[in-house]
Amino acid sequence: MLIHIQLFGTGKKVSAGAIAGSVVAGVVAPVLGVLLFLFYRRRKAKQNALRLGNLATETSTILMQKVTSSATQADVASLAAGITVDKSVEFTYQELFNATEGFNITHKIGQGGFGAVYYAELVGEKAAIKKMDMQATQEFLAELKVLTHVHHLNLVRLIGYCTESSLFLVYEFVENGNLSQHLRGTDYEPLSWAERVRIALDSARGLEYIHEHTVPVYIHRDIKSANILIDKNTRAKVADFGLTKLTEVGGASLQTRVVGTFGYMPPEYVRYGDISRKVDVYAFGVVLYELISGKDAIVRPTDGSASGSRGLVYLFEEALTALDPKEGLQKLIDPKLGDDYPVDAILMMTHLANACTEEDPKLRPTMRSVVVALMTLSSMSEFWDMKNPGLVNLMSGR
Ligand SMILES: Nc1ncnc2c1ncn2[C@@H]1O[C@H](COP(=O)(O)OP(=O)(O)OP(=O)(O)O)[C@@H](O)[C@H]1O
Ligand SMILES: *[C@@H]1O[C@H](CO)[C@@H](O)[C@H](O)[C@H]1NC(C)=O
Ligand SMILES: *[C@@H]1O[C@H](CO)[C@@H](O)[C@H](O)[C@H]1NC(C)=O
Ligand SMILES: *[C@@H]1O[C@H](CO)[C@@H](O)[C@H](O)[C@H]1NC(C)=O
Ligand SMILES: [Mg+2]
Repeated sequence: MLIHIQLFGTGKKVSAGAIAGSVVAGVVAPVLGVLLFLFYRRRKAKQNALRLGNLATETSTILMQKVTSSATQADVASLAAGITVDKSVEFTYQELFNATEGFNITHKIGQGGFGAVYYAELVGEKAAIKKMDMQATQEFLAELKVLTHVHHLNLVRLIGYCTESSLFLVYEFVENGNLSQHLRGTDYEPLSWAERVRIALDSARGLEYIHEHTVPVYIHRDIKSANILIDKNTRAKVADFGLTKLTEVGGASLQTRVVGTFGYMPPEYVRYGDISRKVDVYAFGVVLYELISGKDAIVRPTDGSASGSRGLVYLFEEALTALDPKEGLQKLIDPKLGDDYPVDAILMMTHLANACTEEDPKLRPTMRSVVVALMTLSSMSEFWDMKNPGLVNLMSGR
């Protein structure tokens, strides 16, 4: 393990892209060599099923192609219809009012920096209605129309909006709440290591999509565990992308306002307001640290005193640079994981998070590199899904 740490200690001086590359090459290759051989033998039989599973995380276009080859004509027709009728929708205030019993408190599912969120059923679809504390400008209305056309399985879809009386955003409803709740709340079972890796990969894919594949490209600027929502299959979707535009179009005075959440904002953004995609990469690194530790982005002193708060970035940095990094890291690993985790994979994720949270934005990897690194991590971690004890079967089976 120490070898890995040293490897990454020197890796810090390498360029950002090379970091994610070296995560793959330096750490995984030897570990995976043996495992992959066994893994692929076993996997062959399940290949078709697995391929479909993987596809679920790709864009709907690819999903379409797969469906054509494996489903009935009727399925294809209905899916095609679903895509063609998919238009931006403007709702009336009456419709939203009715669907939420007059924005009754019993429908309220959350409260954020921009306003309250309500559950509703609209035209037979479950929806989350965000009642914004602000009015939309003409520029933002144009922006909204674009946002309703951004579709990806790892992004919370904007179904439509309403501008009567106030600004309302209507999103697809994501059943299982936010990641923050799953890590620190009491409503859900603790997430397994494999689930954590998959959530990381899902949200990285969503983020990569808005960074690289939309026109215009988006910088989220508010990546955090509250903005990563979990669906009924424990797959993750990134919420609220494009929203920071709402505060931006308001004029010069608002342009200097820092939008974001403490604990997730990189130094260049807080100090100089520098905005690049690397702002999101940094915040994503903090989310990775949350997945490893289960802790909040900011760890407050337990005695309730006003000073002594520490960011997760600082705590991990401290552990990694200590004389015995292994010991320090061990203390940071979420106790809810018990002993059910592969140490190598945790180390890899720690180093990936460390690269994402580099002080110098140029040294942080792109989301594309992060996705590649997490894909490798994910194939390592599948063995650790105790709900699908793959490794155990593998060992005893052949
Ligand atoms: N589409 C959705 N489906 C289900 N729950 C949602 C949805 N959107 C939001 N929520 C819930 O409402 C909560 C509040 O969301 P909201 O985006 O208003 O605030 P936030 O994410 O805490 O902060 P921010 O305003 O910075 O995004 C979320 O944490 C989530 O639990
Ligand atoms: C709202 O509900 C009322 C009564 O339930 C109904 O009369 C009205 O048509 C509904 N309005 C809309 C826009 O659905
Ligand atoms: C909200 O809904 C509950 C249950 O349906 C009802 O008892 C209550 O009166 C409603 N409140 C308002 C303000 O409409
Ligand atoms: C997460 O979801 C819970 C329950 O819906 C909500 O109370 C909370 O405000 C949300 N946000 C965070 C940061 O936990
Ligand atoms: Mg949000």
